[in-house]
Amino acid sequence: MPMSAQVLAAGSHRFTIGDKDFLLDGKPLQIRCGEMHFARVPREYWQHRLKLIKAMGLNTVCAYLFWNYHEWREGKYDWAGQRDAAEFCRLAQQEGLWVILRPGPYACAEWEMGGLPWWLLKHPGDAFLRTRSDAFMTPARGWLREVGRVLGPQQVTHGGAILMVQVENEYGFFSNDLEYMRVLRQATLDAGFDVPLFQCNPTNAVAKTHIPELFSVANFGTDPATGFKALTALQKGPLMCGEYYSGWFDTWGAPHRRGGVEGAVADIAAMLKANGSFSLYMAHGGTTFGLWGGCDRPFRPDTTSYDYDAPIGEAGWIGDKFDAYRKAMMPFLAPGETLPAPPPRMAVMTIPAFAFTESVTVASSLPARAIKAQSPEPIEQYDISRGLIAYRVTLPAGPAGVLEAAKVRDLAWVEVDGKQVGTMDTRYRRFKVEIPARSKPAVVDILLYTIARVNFGIEVHDRKGLHGPVVFRTLEGAAQPVENWEIRAIDFDADGVLPALAFKRGRSKGAAFWRGGFEVSRTADTFLDMSGWGQGIVWVNGRCLGRYWSIGPTQTMYLPGPWIRRGRNEVVVLDLTGPREARIAGLAEPVLDQLHRERDLARPASTAAAQLDGVKPVIEGEFAPGSATQDVRFAAPVRGRQFCLESLDAFDGKQYAAVAELALLGTDGKTIEQSGWTIAYVSSEEANKEDGGALNAINGQNSDYWHTAYSGNGGTGNATHPHRLVIDLGATVEVAGLRYTPRQGKDGVTGRIRHYRAYVGERLATGN
Ligand code: GLA
Repeated sequence: MPMSAQVLAAGSHRFTIGDKDFLLDGKPLQIRCGEMHFARVPREYWQHRLKLIKAMGLNTVCAYLFWNYHEWREGKYDWAGQRDAAEFCRLAQQEGLWVILRPGPYACAEWEMGGLPWWLLKHPGDAFLRTRSDAFMTPARGWLREVGRVLGPQQVTHGGAILMVQVENEYGFFSNDLEYMRVLRQATLDAGFDVPLFQCNPTNAVAKTHIPELFSVANFGTDPATGFKALTALQKGPLMCGEYYSGWFDTWGAPHRRGGVEGAVADIAAMLKANGSFSLYMAHGGTTFGLWGGCDRPFRPDTTSYDYDAPIGEAGWIGDKFDAYRKAMMPFLAPGETLPAPPPRMAVMTIPAFAFTESVTVASSLPARAIKAQSPEPIEQYDISRGLIAYRVTLPAGPAGVLEAAKVRDLAWVEVDGKQVGTMDTRYRRFKVEIPARSKPAVVDILLYTIARVNFGIEVHDRKGLHGPVVFRTLEGAAQPVENWEIRAIDFDADGVLPALAFKRGRSKGAAFWRGGFEVSRTADTFLDMSGWGQGIVWVNGRCLGRYWSIGPTQTMYLPGPWIRRGRNEVVVLDLTGPREARIAGLAEPVLDQLHRERDLARPASTAAAQLDGVKPVIEGEFAPGSATQDVRFAAPVRGRQFCLESLDAFDGKQYAAVAELALLGTDGKTIEQSGWTIAYVSSEEANKEDGGALNAINGQNSDYWHTAYSGNGGTGNATHPHRLVIDLGATVEVAGLRYTPRQGKDGVTGRIRHYRAYVGERLATGN
């Protein structure tokens, strides 16, 4: 019988983890779960999406809580409206769904800083987040206590729908401190959670942070057999995939990702057949509204659309994938369980193009009051959370040279006496610009835009702004500090708060806010077409919809019907570079897969080439077959600033190479810090059919990979072995070995390297 609201509300339940099964009131329960983040779905549509989740064949919904979404300013909690997690649990229960809660404190999830609040970064440490340090643990405990207060009553033991609670998230990807997991587990218990607690890790890392007192589940997007085997080796208990990837997230500038249907359907059936449980990541991805998008390491900001190619699309649309998943689950329903029909799609409308006839520059919208600083510090030190930060300094008269900051997070446009001279761009670690000769003192204005704090890896310590010291270096090399700065910020705060804007008719040049509007007599969902604009943020009726960027692949912004008014609607756009056409139309369909050339922050064309002539490999050998991560130690440690992996052939005999992850081992046997790494050269990468970019090999994510070109014009360079990837390590280091994670997936997957060579040297690639 399908669970009904009445049965659940009538009383509490006992949920336990048995030797082979999850047990609900003593009876086996196979968990067919799907993830949905209520923050990414308009509250008005929560119920619609939960009905879809139920109709797809799932009996449970999994939800992260993002700490920073509820505590953007220290000590000020917010659970209202779109943030009403308890209401989300109640609605799930009403729809006959159980809930798995993942309160963090860290989540990942392509969410700003992985859900950690930015104000933690006021603390000076370099690596204190996600550790047992007081600077992290004390506020984290406070957060968990607050979660317990608000959601404790929603546990099955109290008559609610929450079955289980996750502690941390994929900690094995980050560290191996078992004591940290113990402390957090205790903090979750102390917060009043009395249902089973668990932890999740990618297959390769489940053993790393497993502790007997915390149940483990494995995350993967392929090969359930290996995932489940890893669990059986650790513990007694039911088998569960904590995140089964239905698709993948998009980052700005990289091709739209899709997840195959056939493989997923086979994996779902295989997991259910093995008496396994799973949670689909994502069942419904939705949209990262507002300024909550995260950023992959080393620095690849995520798109606003979080469609994820999930079976329930961004706007709650369903199609073949949904049907296929539903069909795969049908044979495994509990006796007597039936599936409701999916609810109909929400209405959609188009909006004729409307013009933006008013604008005001960012420069004239800045606050009058300036922060004065000898040398700029990260913005967190000034209590600025995120936004637009304008820096002004005076340079004395003198010859031409280069202005260089220690770091720039994230993008900055530099003007000298009102004329743009260059851009700084953290994606390429471009932290300097050329400055022309000056016959009198000149005013340097730098406008900096923060996009998102990295949500993965040690890079979550992502302090924003212009980091000093800033120096001016003449062409002869003489360097002098650049000091006495004025800093003015528009802090967008939690929800994209706008300053007072004095709009005037007409076009403004450069970074500006624009105002326009449209009138409608009915409301329905629509997709704002941003293809005429550069990059920035959109607000509709004061509500921050999110970021857009002409490079794509997302070209539209989902505007849900309930956020539109009958009559006049006001739209404000921030565009950092100026639109080509200051107009927007509402489309009837999203555009999620169009990449455009970068116009405004273009990277100079690469002239890089590998320079291995006469360089002796530090090692030459054969990798083991299969998907397991493998360490290779060199005969002796070698010093160098660059590292090159060269593939000579692949296990499947084909011409391609693929690498999920590459790490280097130091003399202490630990992996060398990667956050300063860049790709110095790659011989070939697929950029058309999929994102096979070389950065995927050093972003810490096992599930994506560098893949050499295979779609003809889709990639660059060589089609066949030897393939070469040269990494610049940012500084000369001592390397004792390498850690290689092959492309994940079943045996026979394309690109797994067999014979290889590796090189370490000061300069293994020329050009840039
Ligand atoms: C990991 C995390 C998730 C999410 C996915 C990628 O597995 O646990 O939060 O970031 O990767 O979408």
